Amino acid sequence: MYVFGVQRYVLKNWIGETKENKKWIFDRFCCLFPAKICNFVIVMADNYLEKRQEELAHAQKKVVKRNHLSLDTLLHRNRSCRGFDAAVAVTEAQLRALVGVVPLVASGMNRQPLRFRLVSGADAALVHPLVTLGAALPQEHLPHPGMEPQAYIVVCSAVPEDKVVDIDLGIAAQGMLLKATEMGLGGIFILNFRKEALRAALDLPLEPLAVIGLGKPAETVFLVPGASPEALTYYRRDGVHYVPKLAVDQLIV
Ligand SMILES: Cc1cc2nc3c(=O)[nH]c(=O)nc-3n(C[C@H](O)[C@H](O)[C@H](O)COP(=O)(O)O)c2cc1C
Repeated sequence: MYVFGVQRYVLKNWIGETKENKKWIFDRFCCLFPAKICNFVIVMADNYLEKRQEELAHAQKKVVKRNHLSLDTLLHRNRSCRGFDAAVAVTEAQLRALVGVVPLVASGMNRQPLRFRLVSGADAALVHPLVTLGAALPQEHLPHPGMEPQAYIVVCSAVPEDKVVDIDLGIAAQGMLLKATEMGLGGIFILNFRKEALRAALDLPLEPLAVIGLGKPAETVFLVPGASPEALTYYRRDGVHYVPKLAVDQLIV
């Protein structure tokens, strides 16, 4: 029995389970060695097999969660969103996970000046009237009532705002928005907000630089590639939001 166990293992894993190989290994293994050595080798091999089987069974139980979204997919899905599903809340833990991106991205001179106020739940209502979405489409009155962001991250600076701080802001915001997309959420970067009123409403100790609105997207957005540089304003038709984008050839100088 042991002989056949080892034979099977050697055939399967080392030399392939063909008819010729089967005969070859059987002849050599059983004829070349005295019975005692055979038994010793067989027992060793059997233990190895048992251990290996256990290892494999154990490995199969592990749940390995992988992200199957490529960077391209994330970038395409990461559209500025101005209408969110009120039925899907954004938790404080999710907001913290988004800020978790920031220690992983670049920062000018590694100063890391940005600070973040997380606003979720009922507090989001404090921010709604202080931000302006879709100013290029005033007739749309975005967001439509009941479709406001479910949460916000207010990005502040611990040092006076300058060019490097603003670049940090862009890098951090884009990282957080991509992370939100990966988590099945969506968002929008907002510079059009009432700074002093927001600072007062949230009792912020630092100057707010930008606001990121977040939630589960509830609108359809399409990119319009190869747009004319003179016609880059986003527009809506039949409830679908279109975003003209320049092509790579138009970008290279
Ligand atoms: C620096 C910056 C400021 C923005 N401010 C606002 C804003 O205040 N309100 C708004 O509705 N969208 C704002 N947006 C979103 C842009 O309108 C949006 O990025 C643009 O229309 C392209 O759409 P896309 O993000 O889906 O590619 C801002 C985006 C950036 C990068």
